[in-house]
Amino acid sequence: MLTIAVSKGRIYADALPLLKDAGIVPLDDPKTSRKLILKTNHDDIQLIIIRATDVPTFVEYGAADLGIAGKDVLLEHGADNLYEPLDLGIAKCRLMTAIPVGNPPIGRRIKVATKYVKSAQRYFASQGIQAEIIKLYGAMELAPLVGLADCIVDLVDTGNTLKANGLEPQSLIMEISSRLIVNKAAMKMKHAIIQPLIDQFERTLNLKQS
Ligand code: ATP
Ligand code: PRP
Repeated sequence: MLTIAVSKGRIYADALPLLKDAGIVPLDDPKTSRKLILKTNHDDIQLIIIRATDVPTFVEYGAADLGIAGKDVLLEHGADNLYEPLDLGIAKCRLMTAIPVGNPPIGRRIKVATKYVKSAQRYFASQGIQAEIIKLYGAMELAPLVGLADCIVDLVDTGNTLKANGLEPQSLIMEISSRLIVNKAAMKMKHAIIQPLIDQFERTLNLKQS
């Protein structure tokens, strides 16, 4: 059995066409089904539907052989026991700093609210900025508005979420997209099925780019 870990929502939606090109079609839709294990048109391939932040954990421990995870999540998780053979170019966005509209640019000692603690620490250290990082699990945009932080580090796509909350993007920390990840042991043990799948994903991506 080959198990592929995917999160529902935007990654699932963007991954479906890639899976389809590789001949893998789920038999249920996570939007309408409460099932966490989705059978596919192949008896020996299943999808598991989990939180985006949990995908590297399932793959690292071998509970899933493959997974699709945002680079933002991978940077926070670390890369133990994982290969990251392909940038799938899906769920693209940017990891950015943001502050309230009209505020002066951030100083050298700041409070930062974010879910992306490691990436934020690394970024501010590289800029020589002394940052106290306050870990939040969501609604980061609120933090500067209620005096919890001077600045946030969050994902930005259209910029609508920042705008709706009176914030504006400042510095780009990293371009983000989702990656195919593979458990290291599975890559050896199930090479005969995993490698052709990686090759097929790669062909699809190359076709899209050309
Ligand atoms: P969790 O459920 O684990 O808390 P989440 O709510 O962030 O995670 P999603 O919103 O589905 O999960 O995001 C999954 C991935 O999609 C993120 O890790 C990121 O790589 C990417 N992503 C997040 N927001 C956007 C966006 N606005 N536009 C494009 N891609 C995004
Ligand atoms: C993500 C991210 C931002 C928003 C950015 O949230 O955390 O809040 O998208 O996108 P935008 O620039 O196009 O507005 P998401 O929509 O995933 O909701 P979440 O807060 O539940 O993660």
